[in-house]
Amino acid sequence: MSEGNSRVIESNQDGIHEDLTDIVNKHFATKFLKPFAEHTKQAFAEVEAQLASKSMPIIFDSCCGVGDSSRALANLYPNHWVVGIDKSADRLSRERDNNEPDNLILARADLNDFYRLAVQANWQVDKHFILYPNPWPKSAHVKRRWHGSAVFPEIIKLGKTIELRSNWKLYLEEFAYALKLAGMDSELKPYQFETAITPFEQKYHNSGQPLWQLTAELYN
Ligand SMILES: C[S@@+](CC[C@H](N)C(=O)[O-])C[C@H]1O[C@@H](n2cnc3c(N)ncnc32)[C@H](O)[C@@H]1O
Repeated sequence: MSEGNSRVIESNQDGIHEDLTDIVNKHFATKFLKPFAEHTKQAFAEVEAQLASKSMPIIFDSCCGVGDSSRALANLYPNHWVVGIDKSADRLSRERDNNEPDNLILARADLNDFYRLAVQANWQVDKHFILYPNPWPKSAHVKRRWHGSAVFPEIIKLGKTIELRSNWKLYLEEFAYALKLAGMDSELKPYQFETAITPFEQKYHNSGQPLWQLTAELYN
């Protein structure tokens, strides 16, 4: 999906996916054993080395795209590390300059692997953001949504709090539903801002779409 795509989401689903309960329960009952991609193992080792240079709590910015939200969070929380991860090297390289905040780490990695490596390494993540994840609105693609993915059980092991934002309310309703299956409550509400912190947030806002925010405390 490009930053230019600001259309309203069209889906052949009008409610929580009928298979979501089974999908999530199955992922909790089985271990996700896919081998780790070498490039993500290497990225993880490099991020860990940077984190080891100074002891600070971690904010995790998943699917950070060009990294604007990670920069904004790094400036907002100067006493945290902000780790922005995206699988697209092209996006990540687009806006880097020489004045990056000292507490910002951006890395290219596949989160399906990175999440598992972070849980294995016992990362203590303070806040986890997933801002405007790819919606995968076709019903057949439910397993590509983060709550339908095999890595969902690991995602919710990372962090004291998690925040997602989307222009597709149903995505967040499903994520909330999956959290509930894991015994966790969440809050879903309209999201309004003074300054957009990601390109997608800005595009959707400019095209007049309502935005939604899901927040949860994670009990691990
Ligand atoms: C819709 S864009 C949103 C980007 C940014 N958060 C924003 O709001 O502008 C979704 C991003 O998720 C990234 N992404 C999707 N699947 C991923 C994965 N498995 N690992 C890492 N990044 C992923 C894509 O490369 C893309 O940059």
